[in-house]
Amino acid sequence: MPKIKLAPSILSADRSKINSEIKQVEEYSDLVHVDIMDGIFVPPTTIDAEFVSKIKTKVPLDVHLMVHEPSNSYIQGFIDAGAASITIHVEGCNDPMKQINYIKSKNVKAAISIKPKTSVDAIKKYLDHVDMVLVMTVEPGWGGQSFIPEMMDKVRELRKLKPKIDIEVDGGINHITAGISRDAGANVFVAGNYIFGDKDRAAAAKRLLDSLHKSQ
Ligand code: DX5
Ligand code: ZN
Repeated sequence: MPKIKLAPSILSADRSKINSEIKQVEEYSDLVHVDIMDGIFVPPTTIDAEFVSKIKTKVPLDVHLMVHEPSNSYIQGFIDAGAASITIHVEGCNDPMKQINYIKSKNVKAAISIKPKTSVDAIKKYLDHVDMVLVMTVEPGWGGQSFIPEMMDKVRELRKLKPKIDIEVDGGINHITAGISRDAGANVFVAGNYIFGDKDRAAAAKRLLDSLHKSQ
């Protein structure tokens, strides 16, 4: 199983002091998860590439595009802003290979994501071309929702198909659901509300990481 990675999601962080928010959890972070919503693929709209370019951290940025049909120039904006990996949604792209090829041609890691109602079958043909798969464990669009345990069947199926790929879970991850996801085969854990909803961000991140390394 690939290395366990924690990816705090800044969706629940205080945007007015984003760099100090990230600083507090840097020590426990393998990635910083950056949610981008366009108001079309999902109802809310969030931060843009310009905001992302102002993030200063040594931790790689994991950009999750909840975006309808992102163009090359739109994707390029996030690459210029410092993205180390970019995730697109299979449901949002007519031909996801187009976006995957563009991202990889720029030496950035490419990932593909499925919403709760989308099956693993929908992404099977992309699995040899991506660095990571993101299994949404809530409906995308909002932080602070409850983890959907049925998604673990998809994680198990993916882990069987691809023993070495990074499998990321996103939505409702806490010290309990992280362990459930890890046992199903996930190795990258996004957490927004659990970390940035806690007064002590560092303690929450540490707790989550400890729970993941415990009783493996
Ligand atoms: C939801 C986003 C998530 C969100 C997770 O659409 O993709 O990354 O920040 O938030 P929590 O951890 O609060 O469920
Ligand atoms: Zn996300």
